[in-house]
Amino acid sequence: MNINNCIDNPQFYGRRRGRKLSKSGQLAIKEGKDYLIKEEDILNIFQYQKNIILEIGFGDGENLINSAKMNSNFFYIGADPFLNTTAKCLNKIIQYNLKNIAIWQDDVRKILKFFPKNSISEIKILFPDPWPKKKHKNRRLIQDEFIKIIYPVIKHQGTITISTDHDILKKWVLEKFQYHKEFEWVVKSSNDWRLRPNDCFQTKYELKSINQQRKPSWFIFKKK
Ligand SMILES: C[S@@+](CC[C@H](N)C(=O)[O-])C[C@H]1O[C@@H](n2cnc3c(N)ncnc32)[C@H](O)[C@@H]1O
Repeated sequence: MNINNCIDNPQFYGRRRGRKLSKSGQLAIKEGKDYLIKEEDILNIFQYQKNIILEIGFGDGENLINSAKMNSNFFYIGADPFLNTTAKCLNKIIQYNLKNIAIWQDDVRKILKFFPKNSISEIKILFPDPWPKKKHKNRRLIQDEFIKIIYPVIKHQGTITISTDHDILKKWVLEKFQYHKEFEWVVKSSNDWRLRPNDCFQTKYELKSINQQRKPSWFIFKKK
């Protein structure tokens, strides 16, 4: 995969749809359509919002929704192509009447190219699909090309937080970011990678991981 394919023609291997949407899910998609980002909205968002946090693969939205509820001075963009979880998230956005959130219901790599340089304060990627088999390593989201795309959009000293409980992905992520010297791993003690950062909320996949006696790690990389 080269950088152009990663931006213009990204291949998404996950699920876009699951079971038929419930009545409330269908209603959320209809009533929440104003929260869904269209390509033409993107520059508007960046014109008016200066503290933007991007969450990639928000799943059921526990972290995204709680973060937006707790921090009204930040604007949150959540990206996830999976329709069923988007419906769940929209339901909660409507329920809490959140005004500081917008959803990109597709592969994040399709909008990153529209983001202005130095525009994102933080990126969160919590429990990305690990694709543990060697033959599927190109399906992992974190790739050299991906790091090259996110680098210009993150602000100076901005951070990217990645959590995972898969040993293969832990090693992979650390190797990728060590190779890209434009980022430094923010770590002083083992607690920095063993404990969930204070600004992240427990997600479904973290809970699943703990219940299965796995050990999630949390890596924070800062743009130099
Ligand atoms: C294993 S789930 C984790 C969900 C959630 N972050 C959690 O911790 O419970 C991974 C999520 O990433 C999403 N995802 C995978 N590739 C993506 C991409 N290229 N852009 C945006 N989201 C993506 C999937 O649809 C899925 O919802």
